[in-house]
Amino acid sequence: MQNWSDLVWPANDFSRVPYPVFYDREIFNREQERVFRGPLWCYVALKAEIPNPGDYKATFIGDTPVVVTRAPDGSINAWVNRCAHRGTMVVRTQFGNVKDFTCVYHHWCYDHKGNLIGVPFLRGLKGKGGMPKDFKMAEHKLRRLAVDTYSEAIFASFEANPESLVEYLGAPMRKTLDRLFKRPIEVLGYMRQLIPGNWKLYFENLMDAYHGGLLHQFQTTFAIARNTQVGGSILDKYGRHRTCFTMAGSDTDDDAKAGYAGDSAFNEQLTLADPSVTKFVDEDGSGEGLTMMAIFPSVFFQRLNNTLATRQIKPKTPNSFELYWTYFGYRDDTPAIREMRMRQVNLVGPGGLVSMEDGEVGRLVQLGIDGADRDHSLIAMGGVGPITHQDTVNTEVPIRGFWRYYCHLMGYVPQGGSAWPPPPPDRIAAE
Ligand code: FES
Ligand SMILES: [Fe+2]
Repeated sequence: MQNWSDLVWPANDFSRVPYPVFYDREIFNREQERVFRGPLWCYVALKAEIPNPGDYKATFIGDTPVVVTRAPDGSINAWVNRCAHRGTMVVRTQFGNVKDFTCVYHHWCYDHKGNLIGVPFLRGLKGKGGMPKDFKMAEHKLRRLAVDTYSEAIFASFEANPESLVEYLGAPMRKTLDRLFKRPIEVLGYMRQLIPGNWKLYFENLMDAYHGGLLHQFQTTFAIARNTQVGGSILDKYGRHRTCFTMAGSDTDDDAKAGYAGDSAFNEQLTLADPSVTKFVDEDGSGEGLTMMAIFPSVFFQRLNNTLATRQIKPKTPNSFELYWTYFGYRDDTPAIREMRMRQVNLVGPGGLVSMEDGEVGRLVQLGIDGADRDHSLIAMGGVGPITHQDTVNTEVPIRGFWRYYCHLMGYVPQGGSAWPPPPPDRIAAE
């Protein structure tokens, strides 16, 4: 492809995704500008990661390095991790607590809000050297980002005046965040993995309830979540985010046996010597064994049984991304619940009994589609009609919502005409 605009988007129901979006460098670069540095909010941290004045966390938005700080006045700030002098990455460790930030190269010094507060040899020495007389430190700050928080989650935006975070998330996502963070949390640990696939393959995977009870044999066989259970998805008003659930214990092994009809995802031959990893305590009273929420474009908040985690996507190249896992628990966990949570971390993560396969299919899809310039995927499970709430997990409809918003941001007008702005899913569901 010569140009991002050479790509033809095949259908305005978003049931077909042209494969070059998963490997083309120019499209990747445009995503950085139009999506990640675009008019939206990107998740950057949990408040519990920077609880004290002076704390910082080095993170990213898209492929741009970003730092989130808790200033001495208690405010939360975010700025691009790029020295205003010659571009050096100012912060080189992932977490810390500091008085100020000094760039290693020429020791320019910044405060927690990104203001330049010190330049060695600013006026030179003995009348020689130094910066020009009209140089003003106030004009050379680190690039500050807009910051807002909802519940425990911190978001940042390159846009000076994005829509409010409350609006951006929408009521159903806020409700899920309220539920996941209804008690004070503490971070239990981190994992990170490099997946040799395009970042959007993973976001599709996060929006895809259909694959869960098929790709993940462990999850299906041991009834953690499966496609014969009661479940569904709720979308925000643009269908760009989605929260999905399955109800624990809403099917029996006999239901699964009949529903899967011999499919290998439900494997009666498998047994566990220690089934404790599959236990579930309904802590929030929802009855949901699985609560999975994808917030466009790069974060996922989850509870699977009693594991609580965020997954943050860092695109690296057109065909690779890193996935950052942050596990958390509630500060007032009983020792028994905490032990259970830690044990269940074995379910999710790079080598998780459930989520390991998600990384592997990212690789396999990439291998399958690299260079395929005249072909596209098919997203039709659940129908190709309105993009609205779903009362089953055997559906791909929310994935089409992701692509619709993506096309809107990227400037792709699909064949058949613009599909923006969309009718809100609530209205469609009510009709
Ligand atoms: S590049 Fe940071 S002080 Fe020179
Ligand atoms: Fe999965």
